[in-house]
Amino acid sequence: MGNWAAMTAEGSFPVEPAETAGDKEFHVGETRVILLESVASTQDELRRLAILAPGTALCIVAQEQTAGRGRSGREWVAQRGAALLLSFLATPAPASVQMTPLAAGVAAAETLAEFGCPVRLKWPNDLIAAPDGARCKLGGILCEQDAGLPGKVLVGIGINLLAEAAPPGLPATSVAAVAGRAPSQEELLCALLPRLQRWCSLPPSSIRKGWLSWQTGLGESVTVVMGKRTIVGEALGIDEAGALLVREGDVTVTCPAGDVHLQQSPRHAQKKAGDAEETPMPKTI
Ligand code: BTN
Repeated sequence: MGNWAAMTAEGSFPVEPAETAGDKEFHVGETRVILLESVASTQDELRRLAILAPGTALCIVAQEQTAGRGRSGREWVAQRGAALLLSFLATPAPASVQMTPLAAGVAAAETLAEFGCPVRLKWPNDLIAAPDGARCKLGGILCEQDAGLPGKVLVGIGINLLAEAAPPGLPATSVAAVAGRAPSQEELLCALLPRLQRWCSLPPSSIRKGWLSWQTGLGESVTVVMGKRTIVGEALGIDEAGALLVREGDVTVTCPAGDVHLQQSPRHAQKKAGDAEETPMPKTI
């Protein structure tokens, strides 16, 4: 499994055969990191182990997921070894639980920037880069809660490190493509975990401020799909619970959850269409 052994010099200890046969584990700060070759979803494995070992700070990392999932019930597909796929057990302050998806986004953005990656956050926490002016997804974050883990948030993060990470046909890119080189999984993980711990423990006002410094899309025309409802308007900002505020006509709509589609710049839409004579149709991501 890559060069992970280099990280285990401090705090290496034997694998527990019943739970993690054939895999490795080590600590980053307080967090016990378990490395898996292949798993259905790191989210499910984190949930299972967190219930078995209450009180343990945990992070599950996998080379491959056979049933990775994204937000809104979508699947999350990544080529084996080409992405960082992890689930982290966060224990936010009660007032910050709803802000955890945004906190995780800030932690990931800050970390990727440290590796020279020009990253922004599209509400709530899509990791976005714009390699040739077109905004593409570098990675995504899925936060889940479980009745068996009160006060915890399961933070699942997928970051495309290499170009082949994302399946073709999506407006997706990779750290290697936008930064010129990608850090290894272990470099990125070791830089990310302390930031996840920190940002997920902050109060809502700090998380909001941090998120605003990384955002893309505010002040722009957006379409927000919230279940069966679609809101079309201008993205104004976010409130202290992390909800997106959208002005639709003369009403401000509060969107606690949903999928945001931003218009690509008309210039890029025209370039993609490859027809300079036609009036460009805005595209969305
Ligand atoms: C999204 O943008 O839709 C969120 C994608 C989250 C994907 C990660 S990969 C690691 C973790 N395990 C999963 O099954 N999903 C998350």
